[in-house]
Amino acid sequence: MGYNVAIDGPAGAGKSTVAKRVAKELGFIYVDTGAMYRALAVFFLKKGLKPEDTKEIAEVCKEAEVSIGYEEGIQQVYLNRENVTSLLRTEEVGNMASVSSAVREVRAQLLELQRELARTKDVVMDGRDIGTNILPNADVKVYLTASVETRAKRRYLELQEKGVECNLEDIARDIEERDTRDMNREIAPLKQAEDAILVDSSDMTIDEVVDTIKSLCK
Ligand code: DC
Repeated sequence: MGYNVAIDGPAGAGKSTVAKRVAKELGFIYVDTGAMYRALAVFFLKKGLKPEDTKEIAEVCKEAEVSIGYEEGIQQVYLNRENVTSLLRTEEVGNMASVSSAVREVRAQLLELQRELARTKDVVMDGRDIGTNILPNADVKVYLTASVETRAKRRYLELQEKGVECNLEDIARDIEERDTRDMNREIAPLKQAEDAILVDSSDMTIDEVVDTIKSLCK
């Protein structure tokens, strides 16, 4: 059994930035489970499906095999053996992932892959249901959050840096919609595990969050 650090929280709380750093500094593997849901979302979009086609999504998801690997320490995601890592970070894929991840068959498809990684390796795994559902016995559980305003502002600055036209109010609304969906779905909703430590990153630097989480480990 590997040493398992589970980091859950809403979109934009800084999970992936922080989880990546914690993993690197502890010499663990970083597992980004959101990227797995995004890879399945790419598959559904390639099939011409829309987020509301949940019945078809449930039917076709068996045809998609997701796996992960590492190139120079960076997680790569493969969909039916094709590296789709560069396709995952669009709003369209994010929205499809948020909706399709509520489908039971989609979650079932990724559960074993995630558990198997944690069984065999020391991991920092981030997502929405890692501490509550995937790794209930994780050694360390963190629920990382931040206010909607902070998360929207971070996303806005990130997009501006990439030269993408955007509007702060639209981003805040998008984040709120995604929170509502992720927290209210029937299967494995986003919530703080009873034994998870709450970390609110609204007024913290990345270094402070990383140090806080590292101090909980071993
Ligand atoms: O973290 P992210 O934005 O890359 O995740 C994309 C979507 O996938 C997110 O809206 C919710 C879903 N997700 C999930 O349901 N469970 C996880 N463990 C990780 C992500």
